[in-house]
Amino acid sequence: MTTFDLIVIGGGPGGYNAAALAAESGLKTALFEKNKVGGVCLNEGCIPTKALLHSANLLDEIREAKKYGITLEGAPAADYAKVAARKSKIVRKLVLGVVQKLKKAGVEIIEAQASIAAKNSDGTFLVKAGGEEYSARDILLCTGSETAVPPIPGLAESGYWTSREALEAKELPESVVVIGGGVIGMEFVSVWTSFGVPVTVVEMLPKILGRMDSELSLELMKEYEKRGVKFYLGTKVVAASPAGITVETPEGEQKEIKAARILLSAGRRVVSRDLGLAALGVEMNRGAIVTDEYQQTSVPHLYAAGDVTARSMLAHSAIRMGEVAVHRILGREDDPMRYDAIPGVIYTHPEFASVGATEDDLKAAGTPYRLRKIQMAFSGRFVVENEGGNGLFKLLTDTDDRVIGAQMLGNPASELIFYIGQAITQRLTIEDLRKQVYPHPTVGEIIHEAVNEPAL
Ligand code: NAI
Repeated sequence: MTTFDLIVIGGGPGGYNAAALAAESGLKTALFEKNKVGGVCLNEGCIPTKALLHSANLLDEIREAKKYGITLEGAPAADYAKVAARKSKIVRKLVLGVVQKLKKAGVEIIEAQASIAAKNSDGTFLVKAGGEEYSARDILLCTGSETAVPPIPGLAESGYWTSREALEAKELPESVVVIGGGVIGMEFVSVWTSFGVPVTVVEMLPKILGRMDSELSLELMKEYEKRGVKFYLGTKVVAASPAGITVETPEGEQKEIKAARILLSAGRRVVSRDLGLAALGVEMNRGAIVTDEYQQTSVPHLYAAGDVTARSMLAHSAIRMGEVAVHRILGREDDPMRYDAIPGVIYTHPEFASVGATEDDLKAAGTPYRLRKIQMAFSGRFVVENEGGNGLFKLLTDTDDRVIGAQMLGNPASELIFYIGQAITQRLTIEDLRKQVYPHPTVGEIIHEAVNEPAL
């Protein structure tokens, strides 16, 4: 039996970063991965989607070049097989990079499905994987999530795609109906629309993008409607078949939506089965592992990070949770997890980013707040780079003018939102943001412009 200080189960961003940190900090660390190191994010999520989106956005920019005084002969065309091949090359390169990082840190990578078999008499955990036995004083579970499959009659026989199959495809689908207008759904809508694929989105809630700010979600939806996407909100999917789906509209009317493909993007559910957690008596909440702010489960020396905790299903949250857990294991510092400043980005075109509180949340909770709202066109650089483009920035503070949230629709929202996250973490006020010097001309100056607006 091989003995480790720390066993990490699951090699996604939460697991592999935590394993590298632990090994670099002197812990004898093993990382168990049953599939591919890099997890969903690197192999079939964040990274490949962004590779497709980059090609899609580039195509849009070329199409729009004439707005910027550039004329092109003939219409630009996409070779999707090459777009998909480039995406796969990027994934291979980055996975290799992760493996090298782990090896350099001294992590032992074990390609097998692991489960916790028992507690040993010395208090360590007994882990079984690939017919071998291992032991460790501490365990960090980073087993992630998988596509949730709602019980829609006919769905199993419909040949539907999840994000995995959509990313694996080497050819574009002829047409798609997307079940679920959430983050995954809208990012694929963005890719397919740019490549000329007709898309319909069916969302059961009255708005797309779940808990993202409703005003900006609506703006983004209108943007995609202009590009030809058809949205059915508040609509229930009652059946699916290889020819498409049948829905029931809010008016109770049944309607057939024909499409060559169905994309199922109706949420993800945690992967916590077959880990031996029930026998250990680990506290769970509807399949998710319950942890405290140090990622400690109800069982001493057993930690969990990332999607499997269902607290925030985002790669960057998982990375931070893993780091918090390792710091706790090392007894290094008091470093709890904070959930009030986690940025979320939807990589549509334009990008839509959010951090902290939204107006919708604050209104629902009856919490008093101040809002500064400004068109992105107040930034000169935004106007330069987004001919005819709209966009909106909302900055939320409490009644003492401390920053508590922000939402931005407009590029490059993904690169700017973390600054507001930092402001929330540091409890900065409007006055602090005002005194900051912003490089000119940048889109980030929109923050300074917003600060100078009167609060609503
Ligand atoms: P999601 O929770 O964002 O959206 C799912 C949507 O499907 C919801 O709006 C829900 O109301 C709707 N829905 C559920 N059942 C339905 C049904 N039967 N018919 C119609 N609509 C239905 O989940 P999604 O998009 O699957 O993403 C999963 C996770 O991955 C999320 O936690 C997301 O944050 C994460 N993710 C993050 C990305 C990013 O940060 N850029 C990119 C992609 C995914």
